[in-house]
Amino acid sequence: MKPVIVVHGGAGVIVKEYEERYRSGVKRAALKGYDLLKQGGSALTAVEEAVVVMEDDSNFNAGYGSVLNEEGEVEMDAIIMDGKNLATGAVSAVRCIANPIKLARLVMEKTDHVLLTANGAALFAKAQGVPEVPGEKLITERSKERWRKNIESNSNPVATQVGLGTVGAVAIDSEGNLACATSTGGISNKMVGRVGDSACVGSGGYADNIVGATSTTGHGESIMKVILARLILYHMEQGKTPEEAADAGLNYMKTKVEGLAGVIVINNSGDWTARFSTKQMTWAAVKEDKLQFGIYHGETQTISVEEALKN
Ligand code: GLY
Repeated sequence: MKPVIVVHGGAGVIVKEYEERYRSGVKRAALKGYDLLKQGGSALTAVEEAVVVMEDDSNFNAGYGSVLNEEGEVEMDAIIMDGKNLATGAVSAVRCIANPIKLARLVMEKTDHVLLTANGAALFAKAQGVPEVPGEKLITERSKERWRKNIESNSNPVATQVGLGTVGAVAIDSEGNLACATSTGGISNKMVGRVGDSACVGSGGYADNIVGATSTTGHGESIMKVILARLILYHMEQGKTPEEAADAGLNYMKTKVEGLAGVIVINNSGDWTARFSTKQMTWAAVKEDKLQFGIYHGETQTISVEEALKN
């Protein structure tokens, strides 16, 4: 099997001045994951490390750069899933760690559970030796500014925002194993303790070797209501291509709950797609040493991996 990786950096409305940063971030993440796959690495490690690249990049709403809750603090959700055996690890409402996706993988590999939350997740992180990061170190000027504006305008972000900047990855490795990973700071000015789709198996992501893998981004409450990631896999099980399945899932969510989202999808043959019902979604994919990326509907830029690595 030829390895393939697809990543997203969130769906929503991206202001012009940030487009290039988002493009560059998703390209770096996809290239990192692809490099690991080419060296014989597993799909699981490729999606984890691709997500780490974006968690460490302050432009994305995950890890460093996460949006703030109503108290002005960072609370993050993440999920990782192995399509080989449906092993899943997730964390929700976690604070003071740099890479929630790594903690999610530890939940998957070191516990009998699927999801740890808040204080329990923090205790587990400590027991596993995950370094604690002071909460303010995860906060950027941009996220503070957004938080202040939301308070001033008294907007209802849960109703109006999509999870812009949530990050995710799906991959297939040379052995035909599939995996997905998703990580987010959630929705700006959310209630303390709010858990979004990104921590919920079947909503924020799903991977099953006999079908495919999906990572989602967008309005978490809507995504959870339709269990978007698993819904898309169901459509593929019924014979739809990744693109048809993604569109069927996104259309259902729009019609049923008026929610907007974006998805990356791969099937067990390595066919993939990046689709969204929002105005924009940043994504990048690498297959057969070709890097493709885009932000707008209908936009796909292509360069060779060799060329991309020179820049
Ligand atoms: N999709 C990210 C969130 O709503 O939390």
